[in-house]
Amino acid sequence: MISIREIDPADLALFDEWYDAFRAGAIAGREAALVVGRETLGFSLRTPGPLKRRIAVGAFEDERVLATLLFEYRLTDNLDTVEVEIAVPPEHRRRGIGTALWRWAVTRSAQLGRTIVQAELGVPGDPSPGAAFAERLGFQVEHVEEHLVVPLPYDDLRLDELRSAAGPLDGYRLTSWAGLCPPEHQQAYADLHTAMDLDVPTGGMTRELVPWTVEKLTASEARVDRTYLALVTMAHTDAGEPAGYTLIYLPRADAEHAQQDDTLVLREHRGHNLGTHLKLANLQQLAKHRTAQRFLHTWTALSNAPMRKVNARFGFRAVEEHREVELRLPRLRPAARGVILDEDDRVLLVRFEFPDGPLWATPGGGVEAGETLVEGLRRELIEEVGLTDFPDPPHLWHQEIVADGHATGFDGVINDYFLIRTNHFTPAGTLTAAELRAENVHAMQWWTLPDLDAHAERFAPRELPTLLRKLLDSGPPTMPTQLGL
Ligand SMILES: CC(C)(COP(=O)(O)OP(=O)(O)OC[C@H]1O[C@@H](n2cnc3c(N)ncnc32)[C@H](O)[C@@H]1OP(=O)(O)O)[C@@H](O)C(=O)NCCC(=O)NCCS
Repeated sequence: MISIREIDPADLALFDEWYDAFRAGAIAGREAALVVGRETLGFSLRTPGPLKRRIAVGAFEDERVLATLLFEYRLTDNLDTVEVEIAVPPEHRRRGIGTALWRWAVTRSAQLGRTIVQAELGVPGDPSPGAAFAERLGFQVEHVEEHLVVPLPYDDLRLDELRSAAGPLDGYRLTSWAGLCPPEHQQAYADLHTAMDLDVPTGGMTRELVPWTVEKLTASEARVDRTYLALVTMAHTDAGEPAGYTLIYLPRADAEHAQQDDTLVLREHRGHNLGTHLKLANLQQLAKHRTAQRFLHTWTALSNAPMRKVNARFGFRAVEEHREVELRLPRLRPAARGVILDEDDRVLLVRFEFPDGPLWATPGGGVEAGETLVEGLRRELIEEVGLTDFPDPPHLWHQEIVADGHATGFDGVINDYFLIRTNHFTPAGTLTAAELRAENVHAMQWWTLPDLDAHAERFAPRELPTLLRKLLDSGPPTMPTQLGL
């Protein structure tokens, strides 16, 4: 049976196993995938910063990690958005594991009240499993960049050629540094970051921009500096006005790949070959600081013709498309529900009274933002029926219902159903009868399968008698089954 759950990144052996699957899934079939390094990601997961939350999720079978999801969201801006990265190693693909991880992401997004999901795809060519998977889920491609690579060490002769072709740099001076920005440049460097955010094309991706301040810059640099050495070259006019910058990240521990990140020349300073001069100066720094890195990666929007020209001059070769995709989710209220069976295979149901009539449903209810599904289920069952001790239950069914009238203030509900085997008991939770009635619960009853078959009223899920028969005949499914209404 496959179960999806968060991993504790402080459990180093488990994190290592998780990371191996993450990397294997991410690099398969790609010549030059750039995957965040083990140390960098481990540090980030174990030492959360104030701006972003990252969760490592695994698909487990027999306590082995088969596949992974990295789920991220920002804490002070972009509050509607989450980012997902699902990676399934090739030997475990096309079994529905990617989809099971995706459902975890949908449920957690709903718990957080977030409705925009973003992802990045490395697409070396068509057909691409990632692109097919994302399309099937309904993601739209909003922005495409070219991912380019040049081997290191950089060819000195080419640099000399480029330097003489670029000619002198009149009216500007360049300043380079490695590591943290010197205090005298912090304000200008922060302003250039803001200009970069405004200038860089991102297609139709939803993005709330937050201006950079010196405080934000120093906090971000201090964090990044733990795992990357930043190489920066900045351009000023002779009068001291900032005109542009370029930035390379050298990973401190994950030695293969370096990243050419931002390059910006402010609009009013374009057309002076400044981009080339900035890159030349920073490559000189790279030659000095490079340790074992064998490749320098960069990304440029297909629409950014001037930068693509500079890239070609510097010998970068396109290796794949980098697609940014986005999906809008309905606002769904997540709930965890227990399929509680006693020793005689009777199932415990609660009766809701709604304006359109009674409905017999499995006990359980809404999951709070900070809870896992099983934690929410345990709390709900204590409150509703008084069931306390049970081992972590198998996940049976997943149901997404987009329709009015299921939860006030929402576009619908997500129900995740879990199997609980228990001795027969008389339901009595911590909620009083009046409190239950306030939630429309008016009765509780154990049902045999024949009782269910003979009953003419409504069940939730609608096909409950059929689903239960299948469960009793065949046992829980390997992976949660997607239900209709
Ligand atoms: C994309 C990826 C996560 C899919 O994982 P998976 O476990 O194979 O996915 P599932 O089995 O749940 O596939 C669900 C559906 O996606 C589509 N799909 C997935 N892989 C596909 C492929 N190679 N070709 C065509 N369609 C594909 C199919 O519609 C599939 O349903 P089906 O098998 O019933 O036809 C996996 O291939 C992967 O890790 N790729 C590299 C990383 C990546 O691109 N991640 C996606 C970004 S978040």
